[in-house]
Amino acid sequence: MLFVLFVLFVPFVPFVDSTAPSAVKRRTMRAFLLRLLGGRLRMVLTISFALVAALTVGLNALVVSRVINDYMASAEAERVARDMKLAETFYQLKLDEVAAISHRLVLDPWVVENFPAAARGDPQAVQIIDRQITNKIIVLALGGTHLIAVLDANGKMVVGKVLWPEGKISPTLTQGHFGDLPIVRTVLETGEPQAATEIIPKEFLAQVGLDGQAFIPLFETPLAAPEPFDPRQGTAGLALVGVSPLRDDSGQRIGAVLSAYMFNKDYTLVDRIREVAGIDTVTIFLGDLRVSTNVTDEAGRRAIGTRISQAVRRVVLEEGQEYVGRAFVVKEWYITRYEPLWDHQGNVVGSLYVGAREATFLGLVRTFNQRVALIAAICILLAGVIAIPIGHIIIQPITELVEAHRRLAAGDMTVRMQTYGDGELAMLAYSFNSMAETLCRTQQALISKEKLASMGQLAAGVAHELNNPLGTIMLFADALLRELPPDSPHRSDMEMILKEANRAKKIVADLLNFARQQEVLAQDTDLHALLDQSIESVRHQPTFAEVEIIRRYDPLASTIQADPAQLHQVFVNLLNNAAEAITGPGTITVTTRAINNDCIEISIADTGCGIPEEHMDKIFTPFFTTKPPGMGTGLGLSIVYGIVKMHRGQITVQSKVGKGTTFTVMLPTRWVRGADRPAMPQGEVIG
Ligand SMILES: Nc1ncnc2c1ncn2[C@@H]1O[C@H](COP(=O)(O)OP(=O)(O)OP(=O)(O)O)[C@@H](O)[C@H]1O
Ligand SMILES: [Mg+2]
Repeated sequence: MLFVLFVLFVPFVPFVDSTAPSAVKRRTMRAFLLRLLGGRLRMVLTISFALVAALTVGLNALVVSRVINDYMASAEAERVARDMKLAETFYQLKLDEVAAISHRLVLDPWVVENFPAAARGDPQAVQIIDRQITNKIIVLALGGTHLIAVLDANGKMVVGKVLWPEGKISPTLTQGHFGDLPIVRTVLETGEPQAATEIIPKEFLAQVGLDGQAFIPLFETPLAAPEPFDPRQGTAGLALVGVSPLRDDSGQRIGAVLSAYMFNKDYTLVDRIREVAGIDTVTIFLGDLRVSTNVTDEAGRRAIGTRISQAVRRVVLEEGQEYVGRAFVVKEWYITRYEPLWDHQGNVVGSLYVGAREATFLGLVRTFNQRVALIAAICILLAGVIAIPIGHIIIQPITELVEAHRRLAAGDMTVRMQTYGDGELAMLAYSFNSMAETLCRTQQALISKEKLASMGQLAAGVAHELNNPLGTIMLFADALLRELPPDSPHRSDMEMILKEANRAKKIVADLLNFARQQEVLAQDTDLHALLDQSIESVRHQPTFAEVEIIRRYDPLASTIQADPAQLHQVFVNLLNNAAEAITGPGTITVTTRAINNDCIEISIADTGCGIPEEHMDKIFTPFFTTKPPGMGTGLGLSIVYGIVKMHRGQITVQSKVGKGTTFTVMLPTRWVRGADRPAMPQGEVIG
């Protein structure tokens, strides 16, 4: 897991020298965070995903690993405790078996009957007892080093036999004295049978030829105490000993039978425990010396001659307590248990050990931890991998949005975002589209405003310059016309000059009107009266001949603060356009409406030819006209637009070809100069 975290972070964390001054470390940390947050969003997302996974999965893995460790440790301790119980049982069984040999022999009628004669040295009686001993050895199928001896009341050996580890049985032994062996003395004195773990000193063993097998040279052992626990260690033997009193038919104590199983260099019991009970290592100590074991040294030999560690010796041999825990055994650490072994007088004479190699346990824990770490790493990697497509899904619309913004900024007003669903990203796309729409409209309005402003200046200049020469032309043309005789052939030319000069004068007047829109002379105006007056001024023109004018006035929209002359011009132009769009009979509906206290609306709707879609964005442009040359200036709607704007109003148009057109003018009811302008509904729709 640490490796995965390392891999995730390394690309972002610049090399941090632990000896670097703290200011440098702070700067490096800051740069790292900036890089992390300021980097590509996708990278940040992927890392965040992986980081969240790393933290949760890593924590989880740590907890699992800790739980497994604890569980394994307790399982291992339990296992060793169970091993010790099994080893104790085997040990006790062996002691019972050894005790049973002496017990059976003292009850054997052949032995009892022939004992007195054998004790006197009768070879036949000795022979009979010898056979009984051999029978017991064969019937019990004993394995390992055994000594069986029939003793007289002083402990002198009458008949004895030794069974060697390899199964060989010694010839009949008749020499030897065991009366001074404490367990024998106790039985001879008390008449009570005894069975215990006993130390048999070298001199006793030498009588039956077992001293050689008992001899174990002491080796230097790390962590062992400087002095041996028992001075007899190395030469004496440790044995399971059973002694039963031998009685004659009258119940008189006449001797005893000793049976012993010696541990020194005999591995029958320890190997049996290991194989049958499945225990890792078993050892039997005489004092603190290993006399029988399956623990091996570096060379792979059984580690007899090595000694118990000082810590264990203190607890087990000196205090007579059980030792549980880690212990250094010969060359490595084991999870162990040691039990003291007691002789028949209650002295600690050695110990029984079982243990499991800690390396095996640690190997198992390591394997578990590796698996947990592997699963954690896979989870983190998966989170990182899953984050990539998810990041893509999130980033894609944002990338598109960035691209759309870039195009919009470069002047592409047609760019729009696709919107899917109604999530946050769709809302973002909607907002972008609506922003682009507004921007587009504002730009168009600005362009037309700019155009109109420059047109106004140009028109004012041209009109001013043309006005005087035109006046002179008309004055002199009129004078010449008057002076021409009625039948003069130049008269019609002269009249043409006057007519065209008049037309030019009208154009100049229109231009001057167009230019004069800059100034509003506002006053309280009766809107309906002004409308009536405008209708009246146009009604008699030939274009209105077949047109019916319908008025729908809202009484609440009667008063307005505006420039009446300019508004008159607006209405006249709109009415003229409406009438000109109608061929044959038709209607013009003039409607007023109070939207609220601050704003009124005037609409002039006709049933004329309508405006084609492609003309919609041009009709307010100065000099745009669909009339034949010479018939219109194309300034009418430009003037209307300029006047409405100067009044802080708005003009919109709706039209359908073949059905008619409606121009709607919205005006504030109160005229306020400068910044404190009346509120108007936002958004102007031209089209
Ligand atoms: N009510 C309407 N119905 C149909 N088309 C219209 C209407 N009003 C304006 N138009 C169109 O808009 C164009 C521009 O109108 P505008 O009033 O600016 O100029 P004009 O009427 O052509 O000339 P002038 O007003 O100088 O006589 C017209 O030529 C016509 O094509
Ligand atoms: Mg017009």
